[in-house]
Amino acid sequence: MTRLWPCPAKLNLFLYITGQRADGYHLLQTLFQFLDYGDTLSVTLRDDRQIRLLTPVEGVADDDNLIVRAALMLQRYCDKRQIRTLTRGADLAIEKILPMGGGLGGGSSNAASVLIALNEMWQSGLSDDILCEMGLSLGADVPVFVGGHAAFAQGIGEILQPVEPAEKWYLVAHPGVSIPTPVIFSDPDLIRNTEKRPIDVLLSTSYANDCEPIARKRFREVEQALSWLLEYAPSRLTGTGACVFAEFDTESVARQVLNKAPEWLRGFVARGVNVSPLHRVRSGQLSMSGKACWF
Ligand code: C5P
Repeated sequence: MTRLWPCPAKLNLFLYITGQRADGYHLLQTLFQFLDYGDTLSVTLRDDRQIRLLTPVEGVADDDNLIVRAALMLQRYCDKRQIRTLTRGADLAIEKILPMGGGLGGGSSNAASVLIALNEMWQSGLSDDILCEMGLSLGADVPVFVGGHAAFAQGIGEILQPVEPAEKWYLVAHPGVSIPTPVIFSDPDLIRNTEKRPIDVLLSTSYANDCEPIARKRFREVEQALSWLLEYAPSRLTGTGACVFAEFDTESVARQVLNKAPEWLRGFVARGVNVSPLHRVRSGQLSMSGKACWF
């Protein structure tokens, strides 16, 4: 049996750094919303116990790939607790369109989709809370993708409160550089002491991203992309970058601006959505059958 599952992108509509834990991880207040756009995961059940990745990433060993790590983690969890599952092997393939080091949560979304898909297809019966816990050990952004609802996140990103931000249209621009998360989080000039504020204050104040000044300073391409976008609409960095996004009320205006983009700037237009397409597929609201593309 083969099934297709969406791995949507996320945006950080705002991101503030309010402190740092003793282990170096940063404490955040951030607003996550999904995009109706992303990678596609294909899962084929195997009768044996093998986990195979059919789409390896150049330069990343399979054992380090979040997709494989998520599958093995679920398999081990089920083994340890002697959870009787349908079968415990799978061939996994990703049709990748989200950039690595783009701030769109591509790798985390892939891992979350593996956890949700295999839990369902192996009939393991684990709760989303348990999958979130597993996800957190794979990366700070994985729990929101497992949770499946737009969220105000605190802690390192794992304390989630569902919210309903406006579902705007976004032009997401990729300046052509990849920014590894630790590059931004280890910069000595990063603002780490933004005042912690209540959610209603944050939602009603204009949005910003504390990582943006560092990404603009260190990556000329980010600076250029943002300067260009800001001429058309309110625009910001997502996550630790490298992507930047501009918000629009309609798809047509977002597309008109994208058509004017300079040669060096790649981009796409997508809608912000509060319910993850992954969860809409799980609940049967969105069908993937016969589709090469879910967005
Ligand atoms: O959790 P994830 O693997 O995405 O994080 C990558 C790196 O980014 C961490 O090793 C840490 O250095 C940094 N990070 C951080 N604070 C966060 C999330 C990530 O300092 N809230």
